[in-house]
Amino acid sequence: MSSAYSLSRKEGWRRFVQTPPRTRPETLAPDALARLGGDARADYDEARHDWHANFGTIATPQLTAVRDELELIVASNRQDPDRVRGSAVIDGQPGLGKTTIANLFGRDFDRTTRHRHGPLTDAGDERIPVFRVGLTSHTTLRTLNKMICEFYGHPGAVRGSAAQLASYALDCVLTCDTRVGIIDDVHFIDQKSKDGLAVSNHLKWLANELPVTFIYAGVGLAERRFFEEGLSGPSVALAQTARRWTRLGVGPFTSGKDWLALIKAVEKQLVLARGRPGQLTCLSGYLFVRTGGHIGSLMTLVTRGCFKAIKTGGEQLSRELLDTVRIDEASERARVRLQAATGARAAS
Ligand SMILES: Nc1ncnc2c1ncn2[C@@H]1O[C@H](COP(=O)(O)OP(=O)(O)OP(=O)(O)O)[C@@H](O)[C@H]1O
Ligand SMILES: [Mg+2]
Repeated sequence: MSSAYSLSRKEGWRRFVQTPPRTRPETLAPDALARLGGDARADYDEARHDWHANFGTIATPQLTAVRDELELIVASNRQDPDRVRGSAVIDGQPGLGKTTIANLFGRDFDRTTRHRHGPLTDAGDERIPVFRVGLTSHTTLRTLNKMICEFYGHPGAVRGSAAQLASYALDCVLTCDTRVGIIDDVHFIDQKSKDGLAVSNHLKWLANELPVTFIYAGVGLAERRFFEEGLSGPSVALAQTARRWTRLGVGPFTSGKDWLALIKAVEKQLVLARGRPGQLTCLSGYLFVRTGGHIGSLMTLVTRGCFKAIKTGGEQLSRELLDTVRIDEASERARVRLQAATGARAAS
């Protein structure tokens, strides 16, 4: 089993960036599986559980569209280093893959930059092309700056006033030649509170001061008028920065060919002894009803389903098995509503 690490620390982030993709365990036929005894069987099952929970990212239309936009925003910022840079905001409902998209983009950018320019900056410091922090509830000016310092492992991160920490953060970014900053879960900023407003204005200040393209991700930002509120700040200069936020929406799937393509791609990754081609695609309608087209819920359902299929020895995914797997409350409630709406025909 792999050890735990955090993407909010440079060591964890580096590990995420540098780890090569996992390799898929071989799919054994039922009789070969039966011959595996004791520890060998336990190891094999463990490897499969691990695989089903982490088999990597699928290039969904949502992912490729947002990635292309991010590429454009970051690349054009590189050409105009002295101007105010645009920022990107990945916005959507929970569990649609916002964090996945931001991290994946960050990883590619990090790899390419270090590959092209080397592991050290011109001044000989460690090059850290991307920093990433995830906000939590009650983020204040001080905790935001502290999080950035902690990502870099700055020794001053433990103590220090908000202003001191801000200056350390600036130092880190400049010393390590960081070019992209990912700030996840910005919906935790409550712009109606004093602390929240200060954080939001500080983000704009950072975007102004740092030679960094910011990528924010958060839930339901457009509905909460996150951008509009940002425009009505006390300073015109800040308002100007806010205008440079580009919103990149991430939506759920609709039950069309994209959904089917996703299910097909997931099916290809399954390592079950009795799995047969089409075991999942023939359930695509059912899976849509269960998950409402939310990729996060789908992945949870499939991962837990595979776990059960291995544990019980059934070694395949079926409607009956998936019916016994519970997922997030939102999907379960949506399922009841959808079943009612469709006269319970599609899913009963
Ligand atoms: N393109 C993808 N391929 C494979 N799995 C994905 C993909 N996108 C998302 N997932 C899976 O869906 C789950 C939710 O994704 P993620 O955490 O990125 O969503 P989110 O929009 O950031 O959610 P939240 O709003 O809760 O932060 C994760 O477990 C992730 O592994
Ligand atoms: Mg997220």
